[in-house]
Amino acid sequence: MAGRYVSVAEPILGEAERGNVKQVLDSGRFLQGPMVEEFEKKWANYVGTDHAVAVSNGTAAIQLALKSIGLQPGDEVIVPSLTFGSTATAVVHQAGVPVFADIDRELYTLDHTDLERCLTDETAAIMPVHLYGHPAEMNEIQAFADTHDLYVIEDAAQAHGAAYRGQQVGSIGDVGCFSFYATKNITTGEGGIITTDNEAIAEVLRMLRSHGMANRDEHVTLGYNHRMSDLNGAIGTAQVDRLKSFNKRRREISERLAAELDDLDWLEPATVRDYVDHAYFWAPFEVQVDEIGLSGKKVWAELREQGVETRHRYNVPLYDQPVFADHRGFNSEFPWSANPNEHNYDLSLPNVEDVVGSMIGLPNHPGLESEDIEYVIETIRAFDPEDS
Ligand SMILES: Cc1ncc(COP(=O)(O)O)c(C=O)c1O
Repeated sequence: MAGRYVSVAEPILGEAERGNVKQVLDSGRFLQGPMVEEFEKKWANYVGTDHAVAVSNGTAAIQLALKSIGLQPGDEVIVPSLTFGSTATAVVHQAGVPVFADIDRELYTLDHTDLERCLTDETAAIMPVHLYGHPAEMNEIQAFADTHDLYVIEDAAQAHGAAYRGQQVGSIGDVGCFSFYATKNITTGEGGIITTDNEAIAEVLRMLRSHGMANRDEHVTLGYNHRMSDLNGAIGTAQVDRLKSFNKRRREISERLAAELDDLDWLEPATVRDYVDHAYFWAPFEVQVDEIGLSGKKVWAELREQGVETRHRYNVPLYDQPVFADHRGFNSEFPWSANPNEHNYDLSLPNVEDVVGSMIGLPNHPGLESEDIEYVIETIRAFDPEDS
């Protein structure tokens, strides 16, 4: 193991977060309260939506978003096949059926040219994911949704502060979902938030996160306990103030890595469209497996041995995950059994199959010192497959 170890993600917390948390501890009021309210106002303002509803995590955000649009048992939601699992498990938790689309070969986000194939009479929504912080092609996706009267739920769990043609992600579709898990661009420890301009949806979301209660006495809908505590809100409200500078630094580091590693045949920086602001959740690169003669996993393991931690995700297409491939729903085949369509997920989508297993994310978090970045560059430039 090398002497230096550069980590791929680190939460960056300072005096403002500590001060806010102390204030909550001193107040003795930990449940959803004034800090969460302030966090919601700031986040809505940042994203540019009328409402932001804080919840316990990003997965809960997606689940509540799906319920808030009125998803019915057996309704279908089109999702990309290469993303974190909960984009699609959240659909099943709401008794919906995920339908797996291919990814754009250059952007790794949902391929809008595959939407037509995925469309059925049961389709209710499309859920693009702004993967690794690069916005999906929202103009085309939104146009398709408008034509077919579908909802658009943005999974922006990896894309805080990203923008598509000048518009912040989370404000483009009907609803946007963010995660504030510890490794994200900003964090609350665990946490999530849902953004929307739709007043009625926001009202439903506020009830859903708190037992479906309209007031202390009435459970008017099937709700959950998915509130965010004020301790998490206290961290979040301070983190929002730092997002712009964090993302600026992520971008500088990511662009430097791309420029300084550009001539390597075996490692290609991910494409960035000139009409987006990338949030650079990691600095994404594609390992050219044929060039280097090593799998993405082997490159990831070797770099870790040499003191450079990278992310190596997503290595199994969602349509091959047993939970979906074997229809493992509510201890039965429900919700698939509530749907007249055959969804055996016997898929082999060309772009997914081409990319799967070859992505790595290099460290780019704002806590990195310039020696760390130089070490990453030197280590990767000196990387020799013969030594592995
Ligand atoms: C694309 C995507 N969607 C959803 C989630 C779920 O967020 P959480 O971990 O906060 O539940 C994540 C988190 O890792 C994610 O990366």
